[in-house]
Amino acid sequence: MQSNTRWNNNLAFLLAATGSAVGLGNIWGFPYKAGENGGGLFVLLYIFFVILLGLPVFMAEVAIGKIGKKDPVSAMINTADKTNSTKNWRVVGYLGILSNLFIGGYYAVIAGLVINYGFISASGFIGKDPTVIYDTEISSFVEMTFWFLLFLALTGFVLARGIEKGIESSMRILMPTLFFLIILMVGYGAYRGDMSAALSYLFSWKAEQFSAATMQAAIGQAFFSLSIGMGTLMAFGYYMPKEQKVPGASSIVVTADTSVALLAGLAIFPLVFAFPFLDPNAGTELVFKTMSTAFAELGAIGQFVGPLFYLLLAVAALSSMISILEPSVLWVQERMPTTRTRATFIVIAICIILCLISVSGFNVLKDFKVGSLENPFEMMKYIADDFLLLLGGTGISAFVGWRLSKIIDMEKLGFKSKLLFSAWIFILRWVSPLFLMVIWVLGNLERIFFIKFF
Ligand code: PFF
Repeated sequence: MQSNTRWNNNLAFLLAATGSAVGLGNIWGFPYKAGENGGGLFVLLYIFFVILLGLPVFMAEVAIGKIGKKDPVSAMINTADKTNSTKNWRVVGYLGILSNLFIGGYYAVIAGLVINYGFISASGFIGKDPTVIYDTEISSFVEMTFWFLLFLALTGFVLARGIEKGIESSMRILMPTLFFLIILMVGYGAYRGDMSAALSYLFSWKAEQFSAATMQAAIGQAFFSLSIGMGTLMAFGYYMPKEQKVPGASSIVVTADTSVALLAGLAIFPLVFAFPFLDPNAGTELVFKTMSTAFAELGAIGQFVGPLFYLLLAVAALSSMISILEPSVLWVQERMPTTRTRATFIVIAICIILCLISVSGFNVLKDFKVGSLENPFEMMKYIADDFLLLLGGTGISAFVGWRLSKIIDMEKLGFKSKLLFSAWIFILRWVSPLFLMVIWVLGNLERIFFIKFF
């Protein structure tokens, strides 16, 4: 059931991969994690890990897709064949598909809440208590379900239309909109908010906060934000035009993603610091409770700025969600084989079941704990972000470093310098698997068994 399996041109890969990378992780996740983990120290560690580990593993994942030419599982089997390696490497592809579904299973729930907030903010927050609004919204299982279903319907619509008519053409609209909105928000923050307080919060040096947990947070955020480890980049590499260069294209996407994360901080914190009673350390509730209070304080203009802000978040979430489910749709479509529309239905149906479990973590099952994981939503997030993604990233890194590198034609992939190519392989062989595994083991011991070393 092959439809068109190529991007139309080089720009299409750049748009789609940037659309995937820039998402809730940048605008909802990065600012609060930077705030919680030592400001400038976290930002610097984050940039360091993006360059040292993120970019190399990102390129490795795209390379597997470009050389393996199929869905993530078949791409792993094909490349394993070409390098006389065991077919068991396909586990990396399966891990990717599993991560797709688990990430999708909580990502759509947050995105649904974002859309809901977009509508609430349009009717104005003035005179309403943000805590009451938030608690009321998340306490309703039915209402939260309605919003994530709406979001998944949009995602499914784009996915079912295919690579060119669906993903490529939607990214052509979504990406410029996103960049326009974020610049607008930073500009408004600078005009109305306290930019110097925001800059010092994000970039001032709190060295006393350096710890294993900070490093772990920075690496995890880097991998999540760059969409590494779950087959999305393999699928997008498969659709890449033959002549497109992997290192150049990857560097552009990684730079765009990091810039948007920093800009998101500069859009949010000036408004938070404009009102001294607001707490910048509100964690996951920062963009909901805290920002809605800021919009209320802005008066009538808040009724205009608020919806724009939530539109920005929704656009970022939609372009990422499409990419989160794409590898699974591709896999089902080629595995069965079936039509793209039917494959999309199957994947969205599984995602709905997982989202229902996540939603229950906000209300009906909010006290259902496993180990240190507070509720089913946290569990879903943990399985996806902390467990599966890092394992997938390690597998990709080790496979390309130790096996695929033997048959890679350096120039064909786009490397001009032998030195850079060797440095890339060295990092993939030794540095990233080691870092990722240590972080994975320490993190899991702490989260599940409460064993802490630092
Ligand atoms: N990078 C996205 C974000 O920052 O929100 C999330 C994501 C998309 C993760 C696609 C993984 C993925 F494959």
